[in-house]
Amino acid sequence: MSTLSVQSVFQRHREPVYQALRSAIDAIETQASTAHSELQAFYGQMKYHLGWVDEHFHPAIANTGKYLRPTLLLLASEAVGAGENDDALLRRALPVAAAIELTHSFTLIHDDIEDGDEERRHRPTLWKLWGVPQAVNTGDGLFSLARLTLWKALDEGVSSSVVARLGMLYDRTCLAITEGQHLDLSFEEHLDIPTQTYLQVIERKTAALISCSAEMGAILATTDQESIQSLSQFGRALGLAFQVRDDMLGVWATEEELGKTPAGDIYRRKKSLPIIHALAHANFADQHRLYEIYRQKAELTNEQVEQVLAILDATGTKEFCNSFLTQQCNAALDALANIATKDRPHSQRALADLTLLVRFVNQA
Ligand code: IPE
Ligand code: IPE
Ligand code: MG
Ligand code: MG
Repeated sequence: MSTLSVQSVFQRHREPVYQALRSAIDAIETQASTAHSELQAFYGQMKYHLGWVDEHFHPAIANTGKYLRPTLLLLASEAVGAGENDDALLRRALPVAAAIELTHSFTLIHDDIEDGDEERRHRPTLWKLWGVPQAVNTGDGLFSLARLTLWKALDEGVSSSVVARLGMLYDRTCLAITEGQHLDLSFEEHLDIPTQTYLQVIERKTAALISCSAEMGAILATTDQESIQSLSQFGRALGLAFQVRDDMLGVWATEEELGKTPAGDIYRRKKSLPIIHALAHANFADQHRLYEIYRQKAELTNEQVEQVLAILDATGTKEFCNSFLTQQCNAALDALANIATKDRPHSQRALADLTLLVRFVNQA
């Protein structure tokens, strides 16, 4: 698959998602900053995280992230939408897509605090620049803004019963994310984590929001419950694959690809899939070495990181992760095949784009 083709999938919805995000923040910011000028810094921190301003709150062109989740939501609604004009469908789905991206943003702000990560998307994280208390608060602000943005679907003519269904799904999803983060953090203390448990963690911390995005897109466009369910399943499988890909990048990607230190997940002894697999499959001596390294109080030296990487090699861990990734991507494609799409060019294009997204995730 060429990178160009997946880039064009991301590109197609980028501008409308960006505009929906801007309108979600701008109107509220203007009102609040008129009341108290210091609040410019509060909204400025949000805009910094979203990649629109620099740390002095001056306009900047920075990495905004891929907008994967809102793109998925819009594609899901295009795939199953029928019998109405596509612009109307897009207008109804955009506030919900923006709400999803704001939610993703707030979870990243909190996640960087929880993980002690100093960089995100090649720039210092919010807590690194403005301290943990302000970063926690800005994350909370984005969470509230996300919910307010979701309600805007009512202004675009989405029925109140559909919005209530979206709201309930949204709340269930946010709770699942925090369950996942809780489990993830609690496992930092443990060494032998069964793969099954790892799956329960990533299903919540990552797959829940990706599945929610695809399901919400479907709910906005169809009443066919089977298609809604298939898109939810599609998002779940894609989400599991996506986190495994992220775990693989955290070990094997270069700094340029990653936007943060290479092998960073090993330096901070994160219990991601590669380490879980290696601990379970290493020979006795290597297992002992891994336990020692993962239990020591001191920071890992570069040499120790090299040793861990060598053990990952010896245990065929990259091959295992790749095959897990492919398994989940195939499950995602199977779910797509169950969707009752309409014989409309836009549905067919959306389906082809969703397939491209799966192929993109399948390349770690
Ligand atoms: C990163 O998500 C966090 C995970 C759940 C793995 P993305 O890779 O979608 O982040 P951005 O928004 O594109 O930076
Ligand atoms: C991110 O998980 C999941 C959420 C933000 C809820 P990770 O901690 O594994 O992701 P990165 O590597 O920091 O993006
Ligand atoms: Mg993290
Ligand atoms: Mg984390």
